[in-house]
Amino acid sequence: MIIYASKYGSGRAYAHELARRTGMDVYSADDKMPSPAENEPLVLFGSLYAGGLYKAKKLRKAASLTAPENLFIVTCGLCSPKIEKNHQAIEEMVEKTFGAQHNPVCMVRGAMDYEALSKKDAIMMAMFRKMVQKNPDEPEAELFLETYNRKVDLIDFSSLDELEKQLEQHRKWNEQNNANKNGSPH
Ligand SMILES: Cc1cc2nc3c(=O)[nH]c(=O)nc-3n(C[C@H](O)[C@H](O)[C@H](O)COP(=O)(O)O)c2cc1C
Repeated sequence: MIIYASKYGSGRAYAHELARRTGMDVYSADDKMPSPAENEPLVLFGSLYAGGLYKAKKLRKAASLTAPENLFIVTCGLCSPKIEKNHQAIEEMVEKTFGAQHNPVCMVRGAMDYEALSKKDAIMMAMFRKMVQKNPDEPEAELFLETYNRKVDLIDFSSLDELEKQLEQHRKWNEQNNANKNGSPH
């Protein structure tokens, strides 16, 4: 089962792409949804806002319905997870939100259309811009300042490839476990 918490749609687009690839059911964190079946993988997509996850409380509640080995967390933000500092900050935030993770955290990059932002979010971005202008040597300052007030689209579905493989492995592992439980040699 896939659950996403997305404010402007990029996390939602990734969640639906993963559902298309895997055939898993997909829900918004606001939907009414069934509890995951025993050993069913649960993939949670959370979009990044000010270093935390959008609707973290709902996502945490969903995570509590399954065992850590079945839980796969995906974060969607604009910052590059290839930058060690960002990667570490996301890892730490995820651990704080959900506890230590059994499966690797998948970090994908989203999109932003400044024209579509709520007033509150636009103000936050304007404040963030002032901060960045004071620290222009930070790794992503140039990209941020260049794209400020424009449309940014960093969505890349290939960043789901590794997660798709992990889910396939999880499925095989489950099949093996079930076969062992049922006494089948395969
Ligand atoms: C107010 C605000 C704060 C944000 N904070 C972060 C952040 O801390 N880290 C990050 O990588 N991206 C941040 N972003 C970018 C969003 O995570 C990005 O646009 C993402 O694709 C949004 O996902 P959604 O469309 O699913 O809501 C922020 C965007 C806004 C508007």
